[in-house]
Amino acid sequence: MSTDTESDLSAIDLTDASVWEKGAPHDWLDRLRSEDPVHWHPEADGPGFWAVTRHDDVRRISTSPDEFSSYLRGPLRPDPDPESLEQVRMVIIGMDPPEHREFRSIVAKAFTPRMIGKLADALGEETARVVGELRDRDSCEFVNDVAARIPMWSISELMGVPEGDRQRLYELSHCLIDDQDPEVAPTPETSMEASAEVFAYASEMAARERANPSGSLTSDLLAAEVQGRKLTDMEYTLFFLFLIVAGNETTRTATSHGLLALLEHPDSMKRLVRDPELVPSAVEEILRWQPPIHHFRRTATRDTIIGETEVAEGDKVLMWYAGANRDPSVFDDPHTFLIDRTPNQHQSFGIGEHFCLGANLARLSLRLVFTELLATIENISLQAPPRRLHSNLINGIKELRISYDVR
Ligand code: HEM
Repeated sequence: MSTDTESDLSAIDLTDASVWEKGAPHDWLDRLRSEDPVHWHPEADGPGFWAVTRHDDVRRISTSPDEFSSYLRGPLRPDPDPESLEQVRMVIIGMDPPEHREFRSIVAKAFTPRMIGKLADALGEETARVVGELRDRDSCEFVNDVAARIPMWSISELMGVPEGDRQRLYELSHCLIDDQDPEVAPTPETSMEASAEVFAYASEMAARERANPSGSLTSDLLAAEVQGRKLTDMEYTLFFLFLIVAGNETTRTATSHGLLALLEHPDSMKRLVRDPELVPSAVEEILRWQPPIHHFRRTATRDTIIGETEVAEGDKVLMWYAGANRDPSVFDDPHTFLIDRTPNQHQSFGIGEHFCLGANLARLSLRLVFTELLATIENISLQAPPRRLHSNLINGIKELRISYDVR
């Protein structure tokens, strides 16, 4: 028999993409965190999962890969069919240690602060170029005209993708990851075709790089040895694809949400213009406020405990970052947007074994774009309500129409 509270909580459906499309359901996340922080959540298309909303529990799960595996059933909510499971296990995000560390180390050195620092000047120039184009007009669609272009440039530079191929590759990767939204991927065939095209492109890149190594991350992938052998074609292709997708979707989302958050908090926008030194802490607050990824999954490797809740071997566990990022035991005034919030231990980049490899790059990119943007345009206003992505995985914005004056 369920109590009133439980039956009440049972109305919560965190799998419903149309709920997330309206923005993270903070009333639900707050209730779960305070009333049932490790909450058994049924799902229509699977056995159900534990919905985790407390900061400390997300930390514990992410930092205990021996108990909470990315490998057993992958990092995403839907239970994969055997073929998809086999594929996701070839990508670092679907591996556990020690294999995970060996694969991660192939690309990790390209993302260290020192290596990202080397990209800083060129990325600064590219950001200034893209934002500078706003000077020729007084309105734009910010997501595609600005936010999408800068991350695609960075990841393409790192991977050695030629300029002429970038737009198409961007469209394909968008279609693959945002396939819950019928506007992005109208039919399952659309995503399958996109996937086939990306696979073909990755092998073209491999052929080019083998003939003429460019020193890019793509040549690192092709030259790497793991467990005393080279990557298989499939491992290489999936790694390539994952880096393109991971580098694009999230940073574009954070850039778009950053501008939206500043528009919704005009005093913060004014303060940031007056005091650009606050840009780094504003970027962290933007990431806390609107985590670009709603959740990732783990699977319990044995019977264990999260907080006070017993979890059985094989159980699915979903970490809801928007819940953790507004945990009042960690953040004062969690529902207030504070661009000078310090410390700010948000978990939008994950934590532990799979901590986002691109965090240094994403932070640099976000700092550059907001510094440049606020120095270039002013009196920014929304021309239409933002159009959000229909997804319970990616906190995307599809369209953000703004008008502005050039400074
Ligand atoms: C604001 C931007 C970004 C956000 C919010 C973000 C978020 C995340 C999160 C939450 C994870 C953890 C996955 C887990 O625990 O299972 C992750 C992993 C990862 N991210 Fe990011 N990411 C961002 C940008 C990037 C960029 C620019 C790249 C560059 C290629 C990147 C590459 C990766 C990779 C390779 C992993 C897997 C790491 C591993 O499994 O060891 N990310 N990211």
